[in-house]
Amino acid sequence: MPGILDGKAALVTGGGGGIGRATALAMAREGARVAVADAVESIAQETIGAINAAGGQAMFVQADVTRGTEIAAMVSKVVSAYGRLDCAFNNAGVSGAYVGASGQKTHEWSEESFDKLIAINLTGVWLCMKHELVQMQKQGGGAIVNTGSIAGLIGLPTSSAYVASKHGVIGLTKTAALEYADDKIRVNAVCPGYIETKMTEDTMRRRGQQLMAQVPFHRMGRPEEIAEMVVWLCSERASFVTGAAYNVDGGYMAT
Ligand SMILES: NC(=O)c1ccc[n+]([C@@H]2O[C@H](COP(=O)([O-])OP(=O)(O)OC[C@H]3O[C@@H](n4cnc5c(N)ncnc54)[C@H](O)[C@@H]3O)[C@@H](O)[C@H]2O)c1
Repeated sequence: MPGILDGKAALVTGGGGGIGRATALAMAREGARVAVADAVESIAQETIGAINAAGGQAMFVQADVTRGTEIAAMVSKVVSAYGRLDCAFNNAGVSGAYVGASGQKTHEWSEESFDKLIAINLTGVWLCMKHELVQMQKQGGGAIVNTGSIAGLIGLPTSSAYVASKHGVIGLTKTAALEYADDKIRVNAVCPGYIETKMTEDTMRRRGQQLMAQVPFHRMGRPEEIAEMVVWLCSERASFVTGAAYNVDGGYMAT
């Protein structure tokens, strides 16, 4: 049976991490050639190894999403290798713990931590879109999916910059959807709830039981469950879907 991304050229940022890796694998399973971009080469190479082992096609692209020149080069490299860029999953992101702001309330965040998180989670998504959109305009269309979060829809204590960044990602997504609809570029966001990845290890150790009590399914999601939504949004099956933010959260946002 043909895959729903057969013949497509796809790009995943943060492709060495939990959600990025699962999505790169799912895209390859559905027939896409996948460029796995990450700031850390070793983990991205593990993703590529897994794709190759499953019979798929993948390449590595070194890309720190905070660096404009690297992001311009990232898109160029994908286009040089694959001839085009059909699907882009702008997913690289970090939590407050990564920038040394674990457990801090709004006034306790340092300017440095706040700026660093926004640079990766929000400006990074914009930089990726800036270069991807130009290529997609040139080739006559494409699909972009950005990783939002339930934190893009509600407030979460001690996550100021993270929540601000994810609300920003949803705003960028909706605006670009309007601006590029005539170019046949669809732009959507996926909003994961609590997902089993490296990012959530620390939070789950500290207050996992309390958090899971608030999730109707009483469990964390698996990265593969986010990947299925992203693959669908990238595919022609979602041909009438743009400017949307889809929750994949075990029912959390319905409470
Ligand atoms: N895990 C969750 O519960 C959850 C929930 C909602 C949203 N998210 C979002 O999902 C996305 C992926 O997170 P994950 O849970 O897979 O975490 P993860 O830590 O497993 O993966 C994050 C990946 O991003 C990469 N990365 C970090 N900074 C980067 C940079 N500057 N440039 C390029 N790559 C960079 C890391 O190397 C890593 O491979 C993030 O945007 C995160 O905010 C995660």
